Amino acid sequence: MNTINCVAQLRTAVAQARAAGQRIAFVPTMGNLHAGHIALITQAVARADFVVASIFVNPLQFGPNEDLDSYPRTLAADQNKLTDAGCNLLFTPVVEDIYPDGMAEHTIVSVPGVSSGLCGGSRPGHFDGVSTIVCKLLNMVQPDLALFGEKDYQQLAVIRKMVSDLSMPIEICGVPIVRDTDGLALSSRNGYLSAQQRANAPALQQCMHSVKAHIIKGNRDYAALFAQFDTDLQDAGFRLDYVELRDALNLEVAHADSRHMVLLAAAYLGTTRLIDNLIIDL
Ligand code: PAJ
Repeated sequence: MNTINCVAQLRTAVAQARAAGQRIAFVPTMGNLHAGHIALITQAVARADFVVASIFVNPLQFGPNEDLDSYPRTLAADQNKLTDAGCNLLFTPVVEDIYPDGMAEHTIVSVPGVSSGLCGGSRPGHFDGVSTIVCKLLNMVQPDLALFGEKDYQQLAVIRKMVSDLSMPIEICGVPIVRDTDGLALSSRNGYLSAQQRANAPALQQCMHSVKAHIIKGNRDYAALFAQFDTDLQDAGFRLDYVELRDALNLEVAHADSRHMVLLAAAYLGTTRLIDNLIIDL
């Protein structure tokens, strides 16, 4: 697998693959790769002939008090994992090439509706940063398909809408959440947890399963279910950021007739913010 950081080289390599009749898949990441990221690469290898991954810790999607500086950077290990998974090309651009005039002077791609609320409510500007960088990367790579994890459920919805609204001729493929054996969704941020916090962390998913079980049984008193969820999470050492039930397709607030829903939650263990989601089909 070649690693390149220059857009011109990227375009040349992709053009060669396309000229050879190959179908191009793209997996954007911020690195510190784990089995969740590798599942996207494996899916890409299965669906395309030439797989491009990117690693770019995008400053535009981090808030002023977030973990941009401490975000784990593990390029050599990432390159080995990508090579083993069958990735053909790794693109690792530098901030100066992505935002040559600085972030404040850059055009922003802002996706209305799905970007607000949930993580967009807790992290103002986050999804503008995500949609802007993903739009740029898609224009640089120009893949036939791009793959994203359902772990970041709202992000996937934002990208689907952006690609549709901007008529980008790219298939967007969602890949199911990869979890650790105890149920915790894999995340680069899990590495911030202390041993005690890591032991408590699966409670987030367990408490979400408990809410789901009540809803499946017919309980529609969401306020009471969410209050109990908050209490249960606090008992496990979490501080709740949000918990919401939304329509699984358009992320609108679920109503009495909703059948295909998604339960989304974010919660802090110490200073580490974890997110998770669970599909609820009635
Ligand atoms: P990052 O957090 O590195 O995630 C890259 C991709 O891996 C995303 O599509 C994410 O949903 C997926 N992913 C992460 N953990 C996963 C898991 N446990 N199971 C399945 N997929 C998982 O998401 C970003 O980077 C950035 O916002 C990015 C899209 C690269 C834009 O900067």
